Amino acid sequence: MSHLLFEPLTLRGLTIRNRIWVPPMCQYSVEKLDGVATPWHLVHYGGMARGGAGAVIVEATGVVPEGRISPKDLGLWNDEQRDALVPVVEFMHSQGAAAGIQLAHAGRKASTWPEWGVDGEGSLPEAEGGWQTVAPSAVAFPGLAEPRAMTVEEIAQVVTAFATAARRALDAGFDFIEVHAAHGYLLHEFLSPLSNLRTDQYGGSEENRARFLLEVVDAIRAEVGEAVPVLVRLSATDWTEGGLTLDDTVEIVRKLGDRGVDLIDVSTGANVPAKIPVGPGYQVAFAAGVRQQTGVPTAAVGMITEPFQAEQILATGQADVVLLGREMLRDPNFALRAAKSLRHSISYVPPQYHRAHR
Ligand SMILES: Cc1cc2nc3c(=O)[nH]c(=O)nc-3n(C[C@H](O)[C@H](O)[C@H](O)COP(=O)(O)O)c2cc1C
Repeated sequence: MSHLLFEPLTLRGLTIRNRIWVPPMCQYSVEKLDGVATPWHLVHYGGMARGGAGAVIVEATGVVPEGRISPKDLGLWNDEQRDALVPVVEFMHSQGAAAGIQLAHAGRKASTWPEWGVDGEGSLPEAEGGWQTVAPSAVAFPGLAEPRAMTVEEIAQVVTAFATAARRALDAGFDFIEVHAAHGYLLHEFLSPLSNLRTDQYGGSEENRARFLLEVVDAIRAEVGEAVPVLVRLSATDWTEGGLTLDDTVEIVRKLGDRGVDLIDVSTGANVPAKIPVGPGYQVAFAAGVRQQTGVPTAAVGMITEPFQAEQILATGQADVVLLGREMLRDPNFALRAAKSLRHSISYVPPQYHRAHR
């Protein structure tokens, strides 16, 4: 039987074996607080590649030290960090999966306690290894420390840092780049009028608020060349009066599409506390809206957990790819299991596991 889930997808020079991908998920597993990958990253990402995922997108990875969410995040601002990712990517490739990486700057939501293994939560004090955060404006995310507004020179430095990190990602072997412009981190903070109160060329109109993201995308494209797919993750709505809406997102995506962004990973929220109607497939309609109104390919994400549910999202034209986050943490072999339960024959069951898939 034929299923869209198992149709390959070609983006520029890259063909990905299926449309069941893993979205970026922070592991907070850097041991020496130096942004360097550890055996955990090899096993964690390698396991999902072995489990049949088409592409695995490595977690939010800081392009500069102060862009990390916590000191236990991955970074990609030096060669040691690049080199530590090489075996992770090589193993993913050995299992037939494409390797992506999410490049990130956490802005006013940086310098927080890691999500697990510590007593604290919220902002990490400087005495504990925290740092002064930066943002479009000196407006804190509720409950976190107040950031400092970035200068235009600092914005230019971060644009360059994204491009340099993209170069290191390619040198480490990654096949594609995802820019993190969602979830209330720096680039989303610039996009959203709720967090961007600037009066210069980076604030005010929608065009000005999108300027930083567009500069990042252009700088990455100039660095990686024409063959490498560049994806952008957006929060398609702030779920709040006065915040970004799907209509605003469609305008932003049109600009990104004009600049050659290959696929939009459509998430929502997290720039301000908001009431979000969470349930199965709760963000799929946003991926559909973006795809249908702009023609730019999309990935849908958010409580997609079942093979038929995932297939239906693709079959009804709502997205080109499905991303499964927490379900992949429960079952990194989800793609292999989906093929079996849909009775879809795939060529990439690891030979070591053939006896489980007859
Ligand atoms: C442990 C964990 C870490 C996450 N870290 C990131 C991240 O680094 N970058 C990001 O854009 N989203 C992150 N997310 C959000 C996921 O990528 C995904 O959008 C979200 O979990 C919803 O999908 P799901 O219902 O399939 O889990 C994380 C989610 C989880 C559960």
